[in-house]
Amino acid sequence: MEKIVSLCKRRGFVFGSSEIYGGLGSSYDYGHYGVLLKNNVKDRWWRAMLRERDDILALDSAIIQHPETWRASGHVESFTDPLVDCRTCKLRFRADHLEASQCGRKPSKHPGETPDCDLTGARSFNLLFETSIGPVKDDASVAYLRPETAQGIFLNFKNYLQFGRKKPPFGIAQIGKSFRNEITTGNFIFRTREFEQMEMEFFVPPDDADRWFEHWLERRVNWYTGLGIRPDHLRLRPHEREELSHYSSATSDVEYLFPIGWSELEGIANRGDYDLTAHAEASGQKLEYVDTASGERYVPHVIEPAAGVDRALLAFLIDAYDEDEIGGEARTVLRLHPLLAPVKVAVLPLVKRDGQPELASEVYEALRDRFQAEYDEGGAIGRRYRRQDEIGTPWAVTIDGQSLQDRTVTVRDRDSLKQVRVAIDALPQEIERRLRETWRSPKLSDNDS
Ligand code: GAP
Repeated sequence: MEKIVSLCKRRGFVFGSSEIYGGLGSSYDYGHYGVLLKNNVKDRWWRAMLRERDDILALDSAIIQHPETWRASGHVESFTDPLVDCRTCKLRFRADHLEASQCGRKPSKHPGETPDCDLTGARSFNLLFETSIGPVKDDASVAYLRPETAQGIFLNFKNYLQFGRKKPPFGIAQIGKSFRNEITTGNFIFRTREFEQMEMEFFVPPDDADRWFEHWLERRVNWYTGLGIRPDHLRLRPHEREELSHYSSATSDVEYLFPIGWSELEGIANRGDYDLTAHAEASGQKLEYVDTASGERYVPHVIEPAAGVDRALLAFLIDAYDEDEIGGEARTVLRLHPLLAPVKVAVLPLVKRDGQPELASEVYEALRDRFQAEYDEGGAIGRRYRRQDEIGTPWAVTIDGQSLQDRTVTVRDRDSLKQVRVAIDALPQEIERRLRETWRSPKLSDNDS
């Protein structure tokens, strides 16, 4: 994890937030390459939800919703973590995360392990971030920053039945920021108080819920492996009964083998009719599907794949991180799936003279329209390749002396290091072809499927 954090800072993926003021715990800013990578992760998710199927619609709902939303959803009452305080070091810990926490006085020990530790019993702590609406701060003005994007979807269910002309099974998807006043943060962007979610609520006839639950388990695992995550680093873990959230009748986590061990990447839950029924009761509105032809009416059940953008991005980075040697020199390389790579192609003149920069600029102009491309003419070519390797650029196009004579360039592959000559006129199609090719992580051994 330390290597990832350091690469992220060095290469402008992720910075600690508010650093000039000493930093704000577990708050992060995404730099240039982080933004590009994040956009690609979200783009692939939208693609899997919208473009590759016909039964899901998009939504972008408000972050601050009517406070009644969170009472009806159960979050005001039940969105809590059990906490213990240490009377000695005055720190607060999640009672269910003690083994992952450090004692405030002896960081090599867990809270409660030293004779000096004096822990209180566990008390419930609500994770909702409170704010207030309007100029007067009183009970009537209390509002919450949403802790999940899901509720905005339930609040809009009726609108979608009307304008979308959809009949279950159908889904509503959204990506957006969520906020939780987490007590145990840390592990870089794995758990933060402000994060982005990619959630989809899939409304189905109640009798079909189990089948759709299985469908989404398979789909979501395939999404990660299709984007290069090694299958032996991914698993599905069904929740035990005591672990289930207040709304869920069944949940399975997609877990990734992070450096901190197997941890949740995404939760796939069968929320039953919990949310629509709760909002119908609280709002007095009918939130049900009525078949106008047969008169049949029912409250759909909901299958929810709920993923974290930041956590997915972290898993993609970790899975991609690699070190090898070229000509006796150590190299750090991000073996990202080309579809996720922040920059698809770098254009590099071998030397900064003899007409090479001019031809390289022409090549760059032809590519940048179609792909996220980067032009770099400064420094030794080996250093420029290393820089692109570290940000995960799959292909580097080099313009050399021969290019000026026959209008060909070399294309260097980040993973195989093979260089082939390609005609400048055929370059955009060649990059396009490579992007469409099936990609397999070179970190997988030949025996891995
Ligand atoms: N609507 C259901 C829901 O929100 P969740 O399991 O609490 O379920 C879904 O959250 C996903 O959101 C998680 O699997 C994780 O990827 C991400 N997530 C949740 N809390 C997070 C946090 N504090 N920091 C970063 N990501 C978080």
